[in-house]
Amino acid sequence: MSAAAPRRPWRLPAIRALLLQLLAFPLTLATVWLLARAGLAQSWLSVAVVQGAWAAGLSWRAGLASWWRAIQFLFPPVLLLARQAADALALPPAAFLAIFLFMLLLYWSTFRTQVPYYPSGRGVWDEVARRLPADRPLRIVDIGSGLGGLVLALARRRPDCEVSGIELAPLPWLASLLRARIAGSRARFLRGDYESLNFGNFDVVFAYLSPAAMPRLWSKAAAEMRPGAVLLSYEFAIAGREPDERVVTTDSRKILYIWHF
Ligand SMILES: C[S@@+](CC[C@H](N)C(=O)[O-])C[C@H]1O[C@@H](n2cnc3c(N)ncnc32)[C@H](O)[C@@H]1O
Repeated sequence: MSAAAPRRPWRLPAIRALLLQLLAFPLTLATVWLLARAGLAQSWLSVAVVQGAWAAGLSWRAGLASWWRAIQFLFPPVLLLARQAADALALPPAAFLAIFLFMLLLYWSTFRTQVPYYPSGRGVWDEVARRLPADRPLRIVDIGSGLGGLVLALARRRPDCEVSGIELAPLPWLASLLRARIAGSRARFLRGDYESLNFGNFDVVFAYLSPAAMPRLWSKAAAEMRPGAVLLSYEFAIAGREPDERVVTTDSRKILYIWHF
């Protein structure tokens, strides 16, 4: 799926999941009514579980990815329990607003890109650094650079290279920018969508994204990357595109996939 604005937003999994929760609501009401008529006493938690079960079933019928069933099932009971916990702790409504804003700034367009934030670690940074051609200066970009760990590490190890990161979500981008300032790093951090970059301007493109982003990433890389350039993807392969190298990273045993153009 492209990171560009979709033409049919209701086809996005997160929007479909929300619509399916709404569709599950009258089914939950009907189920609760039938159970009440049969004389079965119900708590708010059991009603939330019924709602989750209907939403998970509808998500399965609609063909959403398997992890959505778990999310759909757990969402109503977790919401209810969070509400009860907030009441018990006498949390002010502003606390929910603060948590919402934090999540919004951290995850931003994840509902659209299907690529949330989770960091890679030192093991993969070491592998990437080892695999960079050492005989010439390079232009390197981390597309979706998160908190900037990889970019800062490469900029430190390869002062001859131009190392940059591009990140869509404001909070990780700001954190990476501050980290670069504090460390006095030459690394550059842009806020934006990597779809707007021309991969032809880079010798090395590093991606740690998600399975949903890989088909579009390959089309873009194949169209724009120049001969001699290298595409690296941590953890996520590209269906039907055999990598030239597979490296098992030392920290997590996850694979770093490498394609030479
Ligand atoms: C799995 S994290 C990887 C972070 C970092 N590269 C690392 O290795 O630690 C993926 C990041 O890509 C960002 N992202 C997703 N789609 C993007 C897009 N189209 N343009 C720029 N950043 C994007 C997300 O906000 C998230 O921070």
